[in-house]
Amino acid sequence: MDIKNIVFENYKCFKHAEISNLQPINIIIGKNNIGKSSILDILEMIYSKRPTRQTNIIVDKELSEMDIRRVFRQDMRGGGIPTINHYEFGKKFIGKTFKIKIKNDGKLSSNEFYEHFDEIFSEQYRNYWKRLGAEIYYERKLPKRILAERNIFPEIENEKMDVDSNGNGITTIISNYLNKNEYDEDLVRHTLLNKLNEIMGDDANFTEIVTQQIKRNELTKWEIFLREEDKGRIALSESGSGLKTILMVLVYTILIPDVERKKISDYIFMFEELENNLHPSLQRRLLKYIEDLSAQGATFFLTTHSNIMLDTFQNNELVNILHVQKIDKTSIIVNSSDNLQRNNILDDLGLKASDLLQSNGIIWVEGPSDRIYINKWIQLWSNNALKEGKDYQCVFYGGRLISNITLDKKSEDELVNLINVNRNSIVIIDSDKKSSHSPINSTKRRIKEECDKNNTMCWITKGREIENYIPDTLIKKLKGFERSKKTFSQFQNMEDFLDLLQKGLGKKFLRDKISFSREITTSTEINDFINSLDLNTRMKQLVKIISSWNN
Ligand SMILES: Nc1ncnc2c1ncn2[C@@H]1O[C@H](COP(=O)(O)OP(=O)(O)OP(=O)(O)O)[C@@H](O)[C@H]1O
Ligand SMILES: [Mg+2]
Repeated sequence: MDIKNIVFENYKCFKHAEISNLQPINIIIGKNNIGKSSILDILEMIYSKRPTRQTNIIVDKELSEMDIRRVFRQDMRGGGIPTINHYEFGKKFIGKTFKIKIKNDGKLSSNEFYEHFDEIFSEQYRNYWKRLGAEIYYERKLPKRILAERNIFPEIENEKMDVDSNGNGITTIISNYLNKNEYDEDLVRHTLLNKLNEIMGDDANFTEIVTQQIKRNELTKWEIFLREEDKGRIALSESGSGLKTILMVLVYTILIPDVERKKISDYIFMFEELENNLHPSLQRRLLKYIEDLSAQGATFFLTTHSNIMLDTFQNNELVNILHVQKIDKTSIIVNSSDNLQRNNILDDLGLKASDLLQSNGIIWVEGPSDRIYINKWIQLWSNNALKEGKDYQCVFYGGRLISNITLDKKSEDELVNLINVNRNSIVIIDSDKKSSHSPINSTKRRIKEECDKNNTMCWITKGREIENYIPDTLIKKLKGFERSKKTFSQFQNMEDFLDLLQKGLGKKFLRDKISFSREITTSTEINDFINSLDLNTRMKQLVKIISSWNN
């Protein structure tokens, strides 16, 4: 496509919006009533060159050699142009972006040169740019739209070989292809039927497609029938609705170009919510078909609420993801190619890992005793509301193995990307600081920085280790040393402190940290911990994040 970007203003729910980085496949995703279909209206106006009503549209066109040659001719020289001929001067602008304004006078739109004088298109050559503006045009494409609400009905015989975006006309086209001499019936009997079976996969295998006349309310109408090995011949009106969506896409992409004698690359297909009535693997196979067509030059704009599209087209450079959102009562379009932005889409649509029976987030801790403390504290700080296994899940990174973990997409080849495990993550790490001014090691600093970049909570303990959050009064009470004057400090080793209470207690702790943590957490309350270092702040933050994962 030669149009790279589109800017429009004051259209329905949009004040100012930009559709950028157009690609062969463009996914328009967002909540209901947010403006997805309205974007298709704008695109239809641009490509069919229909009146643009009360909206300003500006398109960025990539200048082609033909555009340049039209104004900067090889057989011209002088006229303020410094090179031996005009084309020599103009050719350096091939591939540059030129802005075209589409008129909003309510009449048929026409191109209008739009002010675009920057360092590339300088004022000095204004007259040439003006001429270019007057003569330039962008590639004409034929918009073909399928609405979210669509159906295929039996139809009275007629000659109209055109389809309405709601599905009217599909039966007539198929019937005319099968029954009228001037059309190639093979295109339906084989090409279309084979593609239909390919997309249906294991779900169905149709051996034949026919149209027959039926009587409905005194009228004779054509109806489409599909034959299946074990079911016999079934009328389309008696079949599932997903089948109709697929049939409609096939008619648009196989029969319509044949009727209109055009190439697939002459079209812009605007399909709304193809996912309606299609189960996930069927959606994926239909999208594969669309991807294959885009490789042959077709352009697609697909509106959707479905995460399947995001997933199917992940990391595909030929797919553009446009996320439509509302900010301050106006809709905006955000180009959402990176992970973080895609996560925003999932959040915006309310998609959760638990929709797939997975827990909604992961807390990465060093080992089993850390898990016991964290679970207890979550229980206390959430008032028993949050449950491991459902609302969140603890996972161990195992001490120094943390150096093999990353949140940075670029390091994925060598390190495990924690975001790929679950986009909702919290990382808890012992600072291992021996005093207030000991440094945090470089791995931990790296993880913290990556977490910050990804809006992920990274909790490096304020004291030496997670155990330093246990107040000494509690330890002394549980171990029977209530009257001891010994204190446990922020950067002290737990085993050293225990040894101070009683020789050998430290070793016992080291041998079985898990039993120790169970003992500490068994019948303790929030008041036992609430004044401990930054624990209260951290736990409030942590509980808030886990709650947000689970709404
Ligand atoms: N003349 C107008 N002025 C301002 N806003 C308008 C006007 N006409 C329609 N709208 C608003 O524009 C939006 C149009 O939404 P649109 O139909 O494009 O949504 P959608 O994202 O396709 O939704 P769905 O997913 O439900 O199909 C609605 O919020 C509607 O209220
Ligand atoms: Mg819509």
